[in-house]
Amino acid sequence: MSDQNSLANKKPATKFIHAGAEPDPSTGAIMTPIYQTSTYVQSAPGVNQGFEYARSQNPTRFALERALAIIENGKFGLAFSSGVAATDAVIKLLNPGDEVIAGSDMYGGTYRLFSKVFERFGIKFMYLDTSNIANIQTAVTSKTKLIWVETPTNPLMNITDISATAAIAKKAGALLCVDNTFASPYLQNPLDLGADIVMHSSTKYLGGHSDVIQGALIMNSQEIRDQLYFIQKSCGAVPGPMDCFLVLRGIKTLHLRMKQHCENGFVIAQFLRKHPKIDKVYWCGFSDHPNYDIAKTQMKGFGGMMSFTLKDDSPEAAKKVLSSTKLFALAESLGGVESLINHPASMTHASIPREERIKNGLTDGLIRLSVGIEDADDLVEDLKQAIV
Ligand SMILES: Cc1ncc(COP(=O)(O)O)c(C=O)c1O
Repeated sequence: MSDQNSLANKKPATKFIHAGAEPDPSTGAIMTPIYQTSTYVQSAPGVNQGFEYARSQNPTRFALERALAIIENGKFGLAFSSGVAATDAVIKLLNPGDEVIAGSDMYGGTYRLFSKVFERFGIKFMYLDTSNIANIQTAVTSKTKLIWVETPTNPLMNITDISATAAIAKKAGALLCVDNTFASPYLQNPLDLGADIVMHSSTKYLGGHSDVIQGALIMNSQEIRDQLYFIQKSCGAVPGPMDCFLVLRGIKTLHLRMKQHCENGFVIAQFLRKHPKIDKVYWCGFSDHPNYDIAKTQMKGFGGMMSFTLKDDSPEAAKKVLSSTKLFALAESLGGVESLINHPASMTHASIPREERIKNGLTDGLIRLSVGIEDADDLVEDLKQAIV
């Protein structure tokens, strides 16, 4: 039986395999059982075994939450019904009149939640290029209560210095929440760099097999954990036990998958860069990426996410490529074992007004790849026959 407390000092591979996994006390089952129940029988009113109703407590979810905390070097983990639901809970920590600084390049659904839902409740969002730390410093006011950073960003792979941002947030008395979806806990651990909350779309690398929608928050503060748990219990964005089981299983191979994503990502990024029909390639592993030095310091590798534009930057040329790949499947999402190709302007980032998108460099012709863990030569061949 793995001692969960001692896992904190173990190497990543050991953590990923053993985090949250304790033999089931009733049978010894090595895999966490899926407690598919909505409620728990009480022996007398208020007399129970710590489990009352499954919106508040579920043993499969609790095992996953222990695992999430361990793999992000945090004290507490909370699992949510989606990444967006996790983000929603963080914003509900705020009050009308509070200000949030967020990146101008980030997942379209996060932008939609901020601008279309929470602005109506009197929370003010400022979107800026957080890869330039001076921009954050200038924008911070006494009303800033949260800095929201995605690094690397979706889809332009911009990098924000987490330690420097954490220092600004601390001085301002604001929380720093880092969306760590693109890096995964294998490549980057924002709590170690001073962030207050780490957010994941577990749908992506944590799950790893494109078969689950889920989100996560990890933190060190008991107070923040309790507030977020209260919000979750009150608003109801809990994941089902089967989905918790799937994410727990996904985490066990995260280190192996991420190593291969990084290896394949390197091969594909080099291939794209040398291709005569391609103009720009956005990948944070290039030594001439504007924030390469920061990426190298705060990440263990550069992953398999990248975007590119063609020299013919028309939507028609992009659509021809998007419809021609045979291994790269045309689909939203990322982080699964299989490679995906995506058109941010019409798919994942369609909710951002075109003018905003273009201003931030997200053109109509931009193509995003989630490089999977198939054979890299086959992936290159697939792109070769699609980009002609
Ligand atoms: C960086 C990032 N954050 C958050 C989300 C939202 O997560 P979910 O789709 O699990 O709600 C996504 C989804 O694509 C994402 O890419």
